[in-house]
Amino acid sequence: MKFFVDTADTGDIAELAATGLIDGVTTNPSLVAKSGRPFADVIKEICEIVSGPVSAEVVATDYDGMITEGRKLAKIADNVAVKLPLTLDGLKACRTLSDDGTMVNVTLCFSANQALLAAKAGATFISPFIGRLDDINVDGMELISDIRQIYDNYLFDTEILAASIRTANHVKLSALAGADVATMPPAVIKGLVKHPLTDKGLETFLADAEKAGIKV
Ligand code: E4P
Repeated sequence: MKFFVDTADTGDIAELAATGLIDGVTTNPSLVAKSGRPFADVIKEICEIVSGPVSAEVVATDYDGMITEGRKLAKIADNVAVKLPLTLDGLKACRTLSDDGTMVNVTLCFSANQALLAAKAGATFISPFIGRLDDINVDGMELISDIRQIYDNYLFDTEILAASIRTANHVKLSALAGADVATMPPAVIKGLVKHPLTDKGLETFLADAEKAGIKV
């Protein structure tokens, strides 16, 4: 499973990229707005830190506008994945940009039929939003499993990018359901390593080593 970090904070991205655990980055307009910096500058800097796909989202809602913005974003770096909303215009733009050879991440997916459409439109990634479904008492994991089955039935190569992940349990369940990628806020990625028995065990080993005067 690939891990993407869901943030536009370049400090966090650099810190996590240094671990070697990060395969890409997703941003959205809300995340870039938090940085208070010009959009293109932020995306360019992220693309220099991480060599994998970096999702940058259009803000136009009509086909022509999405194509203009998408082509502009794609010129920032070879690893930009243009993020398009799951609308009819977005799907039409997905087909055009994919045919250009640009990676496309179709975002704001909340149903299996939407995911089917995105795959037919040639999307590189489909982003089902798990946490936002959970917020309205709909099982986000069932959506991931349904998309997995549909994509496998028809051998679509669109990657399932589990998004809107809020907890470590979301990560585990997405992996079990067969998501290709999980995109997570930095705190969720860092939290995955934690276990109280790891901390306790390490404490004991170090105390015993010190008592015995072990030096490596
Ligand atoms: C994914 O690409 C989105 O940026 C993100 O996962 C949205 O997460 P949220 O629902 O926590 O805002």
